[in-house]
Amino acid sequence: MSGATPPPGSKLPGVGTTIFTVMSQMAAEEQALNLSQGFPDFDGPAALLAHVQYYLTHGHNQYPPMMGVQSLREAISGKVAALYGLVADPDREITVTSGATEALFCAIASVVRSGDEVIVFDPAYDSYEPAVILQGGITRHVPLQGADFHVDWNRVQDAINDRTRLIIINTPHNPTGSVWSKHDPRSRCVHPFG
Ligand SMILES: Cc1ncc(COP(=O)(O)O)c(C=O)c1O
Repeated sequence: MSGATPPPGSKLPGVGTTIFTVMSQMAAEEQALNLSQGFPDFDGPAALLAHVQYYLTHGHNQYPPMMGVQSLREAISGKVAALYGLVADPDREITVTSGATEALFCAIASVVRSGDEVIVFDPAYDSYEPAVILQGGITRHVPLQGADFHVDWNRVQDAINDRTRLIIINTPHNPTGSVWSKHDPRSRCVHPFG
């Protein structure tokens, strides 16, 4: 994060304007091709847009249940099962959020207590640390290594202690694109998250 001086009294004095805003603004100013944010240069499937329009104009425009619409939760459950083989109960284990940032914030807020430590892998996505700090938690940064941004498991082991509450895994990793596998070829062991 970088940018302007935060206003006095900020709960996150070390956090400036998000890098996405900074880079997109620079791209606009320089009239450069903006590769810093995922802006699709197409409209999306016409059938999907037609569905959205249909349901918006046929009464589906009110508050949903707090957890999200039942049929959407069931569809998510089916997709997660098909993709990952994980069976999640749509009534108890799935909540719909407005994007990943909100979901991550809720997950972090629900488990991190004051003084807890959270391990993140650098370069870390920029919303993790502020969410941890707002809960009174502390981030422990483990740098990814080399041109392929692999994990140094010895450093992970060194970072874990009695206060470790959470390890945030991001694979495929943003921003490097590295992907974790069950068997890390650089490690003599299967990593603990296999
Ligand atoms: C690793 C990671 N976390 C969080 C987000 C934020 O997702 P959203 O835009 O759905 O809030 C992104 C978006 O690209 C991401 O790559």
